[in-house]
Amino acid sequence: MDFIFDTHAHYNDKAFNEDRTKLLDSFTESGILGVINCGTDIEESKNSIALSKEYDFMYCAVGFHPEEIHKANENYLEEIRELSCHKKCVAIGEIGLDYYWVKDNKEEQKRIFTEQVILANKLNLPIIVHSRDAHNDTLDILKKYKPKGVLHCFSGSVEVMKEVLKLGMYIGLGGAVTFKNARVPLDVAKELPLERLLLETDCPYMSPVPMRGKRNQSTYISFVAEKIAEVKNLTKEEVLATANNNAFKLFNIDANL
Ligand code: NI
Repeated sequence: MDFIFDTHAHYNDKAFNEDRTKLLDSFTESGILGVINCGTDIEESKNSIALSKEYDFMYCAVGFHPEEIHKANENYLEEIRELSCHKKCVAIGEIGLDYYWVKDNKEEQKRIFTEQVILANKLNLPIIVHSRDAHNDTLDILKKYKPKGVLHCFSGSVEVMKEVLKLGMYIGLGGAVTFKNARVPLDVAKELPLERLLLETDCPYMSPVPMRGKRNQSTYISFVAEKIAEVKNLTKEEVLATANNNAFKLFNIDANL
């Protein structure tokens, strides 16, 4: 059995509606040490908190995802702040910039991301960052405010990775490292110091090979760890153990709980 900490999941997604309870119940016997369920807007953040109350291993992050910022009203930051007070909330996330789908609201995306970064710093919480086709602007904001946190589902180059490491932040890797054309993610995995690696699913999406195309779940992180171990000349157990410790450290979770 592999011991796994999944630092990025969306178990409130409708893809889990049929069997959520059965699946999550099974995790207590399948080596899942922790899962951070991420919010994407106010409602999903509340759902994330609710789910975290049901399972000891479940933690949550609250925040506005860049694709959902049209729902952010003038009180949104205060609402996020209030939600973040919950004892299972370990981060502000997922927050960031995404210029892949929508490009005409860049200034608004930057404003809402920045406001949440400043809030996280005030609360002394790490952030979980989503950055897609927006690495330069993301780095500018991170360099300016120097939050603690992780670049989740990291899709940048080795050069961008080095910039992130200089800031003291972590790199989240998931299913993408197992994909057939995964040259850049594998280069990143190879160059990344193990003590800055976090493992994640982003489930229900990003299922690793050999589960690609199916619904993702935290136990599939074994395949990701296996691939990273291969390129780093380590054992899967070494990769998992260090990544798990990194998660406990960044998210300030007592490993003995
Ligand atoms: Ni996500």
